[in-house]
Amino acid sequence: MTSSTNSTQILTENINSVQDLLSCMASLNKSQFNACINAVDLSGCDFEPYGSWSDVHYTRNCLYCDEQYEVILLCWEKGQFTPIHDHGGEECWVKIISGSLEETIYKPNDLGEPTLIKNSVAHAGHTTYMIDFMGCHRLKNVGNERAMSLHIYAKPISRCNIYDESELRYVPKDLVYHSIVEIK
Ligand SMILES: [Fe+2]
Repeated sequence: MTSSTNSTQILTENINSVQDLLSCMASLNKSQFNACINAVDLSGCDFEPYGSWSDVHYTRNCLYCDEQYEVILLCWEKGQFTPIHDHGGEECWVKIISGSLEETIYKPNDLGEPTLIKNSVAHAGHTTYMIDFMGCHRLKNVGNERAMSLHIYAKPISRCNIYDESELRYVPKDLVYHSIVEIK
């Protein structure tokens, strides 16, 4: 796929480089992001130069961000997980690049407490989607190795709500990048 890729081609061709992914995204509108992330045919090796790792927490590595969408690579050491969180009213597409992530989806009960709705494990190549009316979720690296996942948010999410398990309520959280990658 080349820089002349148009939005029709992504429905029939795989995306074989991170550069092509960002080129494709630039030519698409939000209704095509699902097809785009499904067309991504990239391995952990392809994303390794753009990741960062921490023993303390999973990392959020920004590959691209503008006013319409952001593309983030999440890097997970074994056992690392997110808090239960919403998506700030925005849409979220995820593709597992390497390893295995457990997704647990919750909806609030009458007291506003998160109640388990669904639990599943996604492996490399699988895609998932979330928007707030579907509930809140938690992701966790449940594999025996590091994991990487590709996330597209439209629009970008600078703040969401996370469930504070000590206070038993949702609290706002500002989201940060642990690295910002310049991709040429
Ligand atoms: Fe999420």
